[in-house]
Amino acid sequence: MSVRNVGIDILFLPRITNLMSKEINSRKFPLRILHPVEYEFYERLPDHRWDSLNKRIRFLARCWSVKEALFKSLDNSRQQHFEFKEWCTVSENMTEKPAAPSITSPHMEDETFKVSLSHDGEYITAIVLRLQG
Ligand SMILES: CC(C)(COP(=O)(O)OP(=O)(O)OC[C@H]1O[C@@H](n2cnc3c(N)ncnc32)[C@H](O)[C@@H]1OP(=O)(O)O)[C@@H](O)C(=O)NCCC(=O)NCCS
Repeated sequence: MSVRNVGIDILFLPRITNLMSKEINSRKFPLRILHPVEYEFYERLPDHRWDSLNKRIRFLARCWSVKEALFKSLDNSRQQHFEFKEWCTVSENMTEKPAAPSITSPHMEDETFKVSLSHDGEYITAIVLRLQG
């Protein structure tokens, strides 16, 4: 298995909180960035308050950050057709968020994406390693 590329992202959680505080975004944003399987998981999370401790905000931030890092690990030609919601970072029938998410690629079956995440207060960071073979 060889390393093809790497991608990194850092995200300030209040960016997502601000975005989601607008009524129109709170409906559209999750649908725009989440894979249907992720969306199912998201809908099961409690949403009683919109701050950076909210589980839904954290889940959105995690998915966003992983996919931004993933985007950076892709070649230019694939970046041009990149759609956040085509990529899934959770397993089907998942009841708990995995500690180390794996990513299912919609196109390239011979590729594996390894993810590492870290949090500190209102920041989340993700690294994605794109492997082949
Ligand atoms: C290119 C992109 C990943 C940059 O992300 P960002 O959060 O704005 O900025 P970051 O600080 O994380 O990253 C900037 C660094 O990414 C790197 N970078 C820029 N374009 C890149 C690309 N196409 N591929 C890989 N790395 C890239 C550079 O090193 C850059 O640093 P520099 O400005 O010092 O050269 C982002 O703007 C983007 O286009 N994402 C596309 C995803 C998308 O479609 N979003 C909408 C979702 S619905």
